[in-house]
Amino acid sequence: MKIGCPTEIKPQEFRVGITPNAAQEAVGHGHTVLIQAGAGVGAGFEDADYTAAGAQIVGSAKEVFAAADMIVKVKEPQAVERKMLREGQVLFTYLHLAPDPDQTQDLLASGATCIAYETVTDRTGGLPLLAPMSEVAGRLAPQVGAWTLQKANGGRGVLLGGVPGVSPARVVVIGGGVVGTHAARVAAGMGADVTVLDRSLPRMRYLDDAFAGVFKTSYASAGNTIELARSADMIIGAVLVPGAAAPKLLSRAQLSELKPGAALVDVAIDQGGCFETSKATTHQDPIYDVEGIMHYCVANMPGAVARTSTIALGNATMPFMLALADKGWKQACADDPHLLAGLNVHAGKLTYAAVGEALGLDVITPGDALQL
Ligand SMILES: NC(=O)c1ccc[n+]([C@@H]2O[C@H](COP(=O)([O-])OP(=O)(O)OC[C@H]3O[C@@H](n4cnc5c(N)ncnc54)[C@H](O)[C@@H]3O)[C@@H](O)[C@H]2O)c1
Repeated sequence: MKIGCPTEIKPQEFRVGITPNAAQEAVGHGHTVLIQAGAGVGAGFEDADYTAAGAQIVGSAKEVFAAADMIVKVKEPQAVERKMLREGQVLFTYLHLAPDPDQTQDLLASGATCIAYETVTDRTGGLPLLAPMSEVAGRLAPQVGAWTLQKANGGRGVLLGGVPGVSPARVVVIGGGVVGTHAARVAAGMGADVTVLDRSLPRMRYLDDAFAGVFKTSYASAGNTIELARSADMIIGAVLVPGAAAPKLLSRAQLSELKPGAALVDVAIDQGGCFETSKATTHQDPIYDVEGIMHYCVANMPGAVARTSTIALGNATMPFMLALADKGWKQACADDPHLLAGLNVHAGKLTYAAVGEALGLDVITPGDALQL
C-alpha cells in the first residue's frame, strides 16, 4: 500500500502524522511511505530522517494526496485538503466531526473511508488514541501552572516545591482520570502538596492504591471542592463527562474566595472548561486575569511539546496504521472491533451514531459499511 503523510496546515499545528520510526516499520512491512517535504520539521524530524527510514519525500501535499491509498495525519483535514480526498482512499486522523458539519459534508462527498483516532476504542473501554494526548496535557499542566504562578506572570510568586523552611505550594487537581493522574504525579514530583478530587469511588480507590503517599484523594462534592480550592495555590481542571460539556465546578463568585494570584489551569477547556470564567486561549497569549486569579486555558496544550506529542501519538497509532496497510481497511476493521469503532465515514455514508445525532444526519452501522 502507498501510505501518504502531508504537512499539517492547521494554524499552530507542529505535529506530524508519521514519525521516521513508524515509516521504517511500514517500509519493513513492504509498504511505500510518501512524506511531504518538511512535514516533520515542526516536530524535529528532517527529511533525511525519513529517507534514512526508507520513506520517499515528495514535493507537495497535492502529490501526497494524489498518490497515496491511505493518508495518515494528525488534525482533521482542512477545506483545501478535503478537496483532494477521493473515493476509495482511506483517511486515518483526528476528525472530531460532531461539532463540524462542513467537514462532515465534505468527507461524505469525497467518497473516502475516514477513520477517526478519537473514536477508536480498547478492551478496557478507553480511547487509546486520545490517551497519549491526555498524558501529555496532564504532565504539562503543573509545568505551565508553575510558570503562571511566577510573579512576573501575575501569579502568587510561589515556588511549587518550596525550599527548606518554606512550605511547598498546594495543588488541587479536579478529575483523577488520565489528565488528572499525570498532572498529580508531576506536581507531586516537583515537590507540591497535591490533592486529587474525583466523583468516581472506584477511580479514587485505584488512585489511593497506586499513589498513596504521593498525593491525597478527596471526593469531589461541591463543599470539598471549594474548601480545598480556598487553600490552593494552583487548581488544575481535568474533568470529563463523556459526550457532554464540562461541568462548571468553580463559579465567578467563588473566585473571591481563592488566594490572590492563584493559578487556574483548565485542561478541560476543549470541552468548554470546568471553571465559569474559563475561555480558550492560545500558546501565543496563554494566560489572563479574572479578579486577580490567573487563568491558563490553552485548548491544544500538546502542541507546545510537538516532538513529544508526535512520538507519543505515533507509538499509539502505529499498530492500527500497520493493520490498515497490511490487511486493507475492510479486513482490518472486520478483525478488530476497536478499530471498527473508529470508522466515521465510508463511501458517502456516515457510520458513527453520535455524529449523526449531533448533526441530524442519517447513519448506517459500521458493520453494514463493511458490506458495501
Ligand atoms: N487542553 C488540552 O490540550 C487537552 C488535552 C488532552 C485532554 N484534554 C481534556 O482534558 C479532560 C480530561 O481528559 P481525560 O483524558 O483525563 O478524561 P478521563 O475520562 O480519563 O478522566 C476524567 C475524570 O473526571 C472525573 N469527573 C467527571 N465529572 C467530575 C466531577 N464533577 N468532579 C470531579 N471529577 C469528575 C471522572 O470520574 C474521570 O475520572 C477532557 O476534557 C479532555 O478533552 C484537554
